[in-house]
Amino acid sequence: MANPLSPGRTKAPNGRIAYVNGRYLPHAHAFVHIEDRGYQFADAVYEACEVRDGAIIDLTRHLDRLDRSLDALQMLRPMSRPALAFVIREVVGRNLVSYGSVYLQVGRGVARRDHPFPATPLPPSLVITAKHGDRAKAETQANAGIGVITLPDNRWGRVDIKTVGLLPNVLAKQAAREAGAREAWFIDADGYVTEGGSSNAWIVTAEGVLVTRQASTAILSGITRAGVLDVAEAAGLKVELRRFTVAEAKSAREAFVTSASQIVLPVVMIDGDPVANGHPGTIALNLRRRFHDVAEATPATK
Ligand code: PDD
Repeated sequence: MANPLSPGRTKAPNGRIAYVNGRYLPHAHAFVHIEDRGYQFADAVYEACEVRDGAIIDLTRHLDRLDRSLDALQMLRPMSRPALAFVIREVVGRNLVSYGSVYLQVGRGVARRDHPFPATPLPPSLVITAKHGDRAKAETQANAGIGVITLPDNRWGRVDIKTVGLLPNVLAKQAAREAGAREAWFIDADGYVTEGGSSNAWIVTAEGVLVTRQASTAILSGITRAGVLDVAEAAGLKVELRRFTVAEAKSAREAFVTSASQIVLPVVMIDGDPVANGHPGTIALNLRRRFHDVAEATPATK
């Protein structure tokens, strides 16, 4: 079917196209092998980028982090950086995503099930998908703020590597949903917040200082977190990279979370208790507004 919005482009009947190991396929035909190590062992890493106005946000930083994850797990690059950037832009373009996200996953490959790495390195698997988001809904949510719950951090010790081994995150976010909240904050053995199930955690102190946990193996070093630190610096805000407790967050002036899918989302409730007056804070909303002034935007292919 010819697509009037993009002359020359052909849209799949179900409207979504995925890149799977060298081919662009309609979602209905997009499969990976049963012995893909990503499927059997979560032996795979991923990235998720925001798409806004048809451009991929902070692609360079996301691909830098992908390289760090691959290196940490001794995985091969699926293709060169320019080729990968092209395929990402192409998937977003073919799906005609103006606002939404693009997801890519690189796995160690397909091999007979055996825990150690295959003796000879395999061609890595590569899957890229894009999806549409609802920009108006995202804005409404940001202006309302979200609730978070807290629970013990029961993840492995290398959550700085962005692997698809997300079961603790899945369970935490499901617990949040069942409690009527949108995010779960993980708490370490010393009682400090590490991060959210799919976001980094921040507070603003009574003195107006931004606080987020220092990068370490205990958190994912968020790309949005890095961008917000850039915005904060440009705005002359004071920042402290340190851990904070739930009690400190509850008595903070503001709290918020950052992630590529939500950018900056004010937190107005923690374990059922309101943060400050229970309304989104102005610093969080300003950081959200200014984020894209400094972020890199790479247009999708036309
Ligand atoms: N999640 N911490 C965790 C555990 C995450 O899963 C994410 C991102 C972040 C924020 O990182 P960034 O700003 O680079 O998105 C922090 C993505 C959005 C996801 O899993 O879909």
